[in-house]
Amino acid sequence: MAGPWTGVDEALIDDLLARMTLAEKVGQCVQPANLDPVADHDRIAAGAVGSALYASGPLGGAERDAGMDASPVEACQRIARTQSRLGIPLVFGRDVIHGHRTVCPIPLGLAATWDEDLVGAVCELAAAEAVEDGVGWTFAPMVDISEDPRWGRVAEGFGEAPALSGRLAAAAVEGFQRHVAATAKHFVGYGLASGGRDYDTVQVGENTLRNLHLRPFRAAVDAGVAAVMAAFNDVDGVPMHAHRRLIREVLKQEWGFDGVVVSDWAGVAQLVDHGVAADLRDAARQAMLAGVDVDMASDAYADHLAGLVEDGDVPLDLLDDAVRRVLRLKARLGLLDPAQPRTRGPVAVPAGGRDLARRAAVASTVLLSNDGTLPLPDELGSLHLTGPFVEDGEALLGTWVLDGRGEDVVTPATALRARLGDRLTVTDGRFSDLAAVRTRAADVTVALLGEHPARSGEARSVADIGLPAGQLEVLHQLAGLGKPVVAVVYTGRPLDLTAVLDRAAAVLVAWHPGVEAGPALADVLFGVREPGGRLPMTFPRSVGHIPSSHHSRPTSRVIDPADDRRTGRYLDALTNPVLPFGFGLTYTAFEHLGATLSSTVLRPGHPVTLEVTIRNRGPRPGSEVVQLYFRDPVADVTRPRVELLDWARVELDAGAETRVRFELDRDRFAYFGRDQARRVDDGVIELMVGPNAATISQQRQIEVRNA
Ligand code: NOJ
Repeated sequence: MAGPWTGVDEALIDDLLARMTLAEKVGQCVQPANLDPVADHDRIAAGAVGSALYASGPLGGAERDAGMDASPVEACQRIARTQSRLGIPLVFGRDVIHGHRTVCPIPLGLAATWDEDLVGAVCELAAAEAVEDGVGWTFAPMVDISEDPRWGRVAEGFGEAPALSGRLAAAAVEGFQRHVAATAKHFVGYGLASGGRDYDTVQVGENTLRNLHLRPFRAAVDAGVAAVMAAFNDVDGVPMHAHRRLIREVLKQEWGFDGVVVSDWAGVAQLVDHGVAADLRDAARQAMLAGVDVDMASDAYADHLAGLVEDGDVPLDLLDDAVRRVLRLKARLGLLDPAQPRTRGPVAVPAGGRDLARRAAVASTVLLSNDGTLPLPDELGSLHLTGPFVEDGEALLGTWVLDGRGEDVVTPATALRARLGDRLTVTDGRFSDLAAVRTRAADVTVALLGEHPARSGEARSVADIGLPAGQLEVLHQLAGLGKPVVAVVYTGRPLDLTAVLDRAAAVLVAWHPGVEAGPALADVLFGVREPGGRLPMTFPRSVGHIPSSHHSRPTSRVIDPADDRRTGRYLDALTNPVLPFGFGLTYTAFEHLGATLSSTVLRPGHPVTLEVTIRNRGPRPGSEVVQLYFRDPVADVTRPRVELLDWARVELDAGAETRVRFELDRDRFAYFGRDQARRVDDGVIELMVGPNAATISQQRQIEVRNA
């Protein structure tokens, strides 16, 4: 699709709808997996399928050898266009999450860049590559607020802060939708899965949903997202695939969302597993009444929706509304315009794609500690590289990679060998005599630690957020040899890094960085570029500390270290996290000073500017992410002790300073009260500037007035 996601000709859709039979209408709501042009020929030709997921790819070698002249996608599309009665094309969906062929950092890593332009560019690149493979619809971005590192899917989202998630969600939607339809998922509350166990039950009230979990979805909807995917979880006993209140009333009616609500994989049928539907027919009825327009990968709608309408159990106008939404998505992709047949070509990495992947990987890398060992000097004598990720390209791609290839990855060993030649030695990560000899002989050892992507992502929950077995022991042994050891942690989730921070000379978190993992690491280690990342999730001390996000709310009793009877603190551990939300060091040092407000009163229509001076008082150029937090001390419901409001990245030469401006309007302090209505109160708001959620350097107050 060329150009931005725009409106559609509703008359065209009305006309089509008026000509459709009941069976054809149901067909638009059916999305099978792995559509096959031979096995599924008859139902495509009958108009009984509207979209498909997973079928993809240009003509592969096997197909060419077999004398086929079209990929499965093309062959299916040809049947839909030329043999179905109305010739309505299919749309092909696929999980294009953080790159298609040119895999970039996982979304949690992208979130660590705090850079909307970069995230938008990565999503645009992914979409451009995917569209060449016949993909018209991606099931991304995931915008679930992620507060629990046990939950493997934190890798796929933008972290814990609604402000960060919301802005990156909008950027991702705009980037993807330059070429394909995007999907905000999973609606809603999925990040609250009990115990961090994937798919588990969710206990949350509507107020917390509105003030926290629904916000990134609202941002995605406001950015024009084409689709929203229902979540696998229940919310307080009602599975989301049957949640009429949240889908039909809040998302569609209250927010005016006019796109498609797609089920998650077999989510409609799973209403039976949840124990709220007697059978598949009942499941189809409940999902359609709730507002799920498209049934992904179950037979519930295909087998039962027509009968439900005929029997009066599902009103026809609800089905018509669902079909209209699917046709709208197709119209927006240009698919209903016969002059725009979809084309495909071989996968070609667009120029600049790899450089973008490298920039994103550098910008996502977070420096957690540094005793001065980093950046390494150009004239470094020798470097010993060790750990399970040294040459394992595939492992550095991360979770949700359907089309990326391990062989496309420039590994850390390859990139550092290119830079250091013989001055690089490599071992595999086990502690051995050889590893000891090489550690002693090298000026510095870089240990690549962390979790394999097989331990990250969907259905990859863990009960222990420590490093995988054995890695800490190796780090202890290497660090005990008396030479500096730099730890680089590849991970899809916050891990308990307390012991790593104690033992290593410097620690970097590099997430799962994608195809440019090696060059990005070399850039960061040698200070060619600064590690630009800031943590998008709190790193708690242990599983026992979960949840520990920065925006926790005040309780009846403030945690008071001097009072050991009446506080909520732990008896056996410190309460604060190891690393707070927003944390990340640089190779230089910044100071925040002199915050001023253009007015101390904020009235409707009269925005106020907050300015703060940022000074680079260190020895090198560098960039700071200046973070603005706020607190609403008296409100209708309990509000966060501190919540991210805004941020700005500034680049400064050594010794330079600049004023950073934040524009504040009254609406920024809106929230949902006890009656679930949006409100802005008269009263004081505390504003806090700092380098992370736990370090506040400047504080000011502003008085909000409604008149
Ligand atoms: C299940 C996952 O929950 C969802 O995120 C994904 O888009 C679908 N499968 C389709 O692959």
